[in-house]
Amino acid sequence: MKPIRVGVIGAGGIAQHGHLPGYLNTPGIEIIAIADINEKKLAHVANRFGVPRQFVDYHDLLEQDDIDLVSVCTPNYLHREMSVNALKAGKHVLCEKPVVVKGKDAEAIIAAAEASGKIFMGAFCQRFSGASQVLKRFIDDGRFGDIYYVKGGYIRRRGIPGLGGWFTTKAKSGGGCMLDIGVHALDRMYYLMGAPEPVAVSGTTFQAFQDNAIDGGWPPLDTRIGDVFPGINDVEDMASGYVRFANGATLLVEASWAGNCEPNTYMQLFGTKAGALEDSRGLRIFGEEAGNLLDIEPQVDTKFNIIQAEIAHLADCIRSGKKPLTKPQEIINVAKIIEAVYKSAENGGKQVLIADL
Ligand SMILES: NC(=O)c1ccc[n+]([C@@H]2O[C@H](COP(=O)([O-])OP(=O)(O)OC[C@H]3O[C@@H](n4cnc5c(N)ncnc54)[C@H](O)[C@@H]3O)[C@@H](O)[C@H]2O)c1
Repeated sequence: MKPIRVGVIGAGGIAQHGHLPGYLNTPGIEIIAIADINEKKLAHVANRFGVPRQFVDYHDLLEQDDIDLVSVCTPNYLHREMSVNALKAGKHVLCEKPVVVKGKDAEAIIAAAEASGKIFMGAFCQRFSGASQVLKRFIDDGRFGDIYYVKGGYIRRRGIPGLGGWFTTKAKSGGGCMLDIGVHALDRMYYLMGAPEPVAVSGTTFQAFQDNAIDGGWPPLDTRIGDVFPGINDVEDMASGYVRFANGATLLVEASWAGNCEPNTYMQLFGTKAGALEDSRGLRIFGEEAGNLLDIEPQVDTKFNIIQAEIAHLADCIRSGKKPLTKPQEIINVAKIIEAVYKSAENGGKQVLIADL
């Protein structure tokens, strides 16, 4: 089997804890190049993961003819440019979430992917979790009926990433917790409910912890070699969004980097035949059989690495020509929903029509 040769752009937290080990542990993949503007980190990470070619300028990585696949693991504002350039250079692309900051950026990437004929996959790793896949099989089997309401969130108590660095600088991140972790909750619910067409969104954002913000420890401290933290913090630490879809379904998403609350990652689905709740207690499905209310606790495999599962899926798509789990229109719609949450929040929570973006 011919190996898939990979180049990774960005040598930070998610590259070191997700993509690089994920590729190394996937048979048939070779990491042959890495790029980062931070020379000290670049040399350290290349040495640690045994990556032979190092580039300070990512354009030089894209010029390597023998690279098949590029991982984009850089701050959010660079995803569009890097993904489009990688696709134009004839590479498949795995781009970290939130993929982009605005719907139009997603459309530009998808257009570049269509023009190149290469695969573009958004790295929405939560779709690959054991619970997501169990639920997807139940839903695809018609066991939930029509899903008409979903709500979910990613709630941290003291978990602001990279305080003072790019994560908390709007010009580089595009936003705070909604873009960073709300997008995980949103994307997973959107995928499970069958990706209906979003019509209208309202949202709110808060920055309640500006004066007493605490760094939450991501990116892991040992990955921050040579990083610069200018001390900017101009993004929200709590946000929520309410979405109406063309088929009548609705979705509520909430995200918190910091709050006086119990940390939780949860999702609740309401279907005409069954519903489900996933939270810190696990996954339960609530149905009805033979006139009885019936609660099911499916066995969920939690003992695998979801980023590695994502990489294995992408490798399979590259080899077999299968379409990736993250469909182009879903990537665009998730970006538009988050853009609309922010737009609504800026306008006092007024409803924003997706068609007006
Ligand atoms: N899937 C997940 O659960 C998950 C988790 C964490 C982060 N992420 C995403 O991964 C991306 C990176 O986050 P991170 O935590 O690794 O951040 P990080 O700050 O640790 O790493 C980003 C790296 O990009 C490098 N970089 C900046 N500009 C560059 C350029 N022009 N060319 C090359 N390299 C450049 C930086 O020097 C840094 O090493 C973000 O989009 C983030 O949202 C995803």
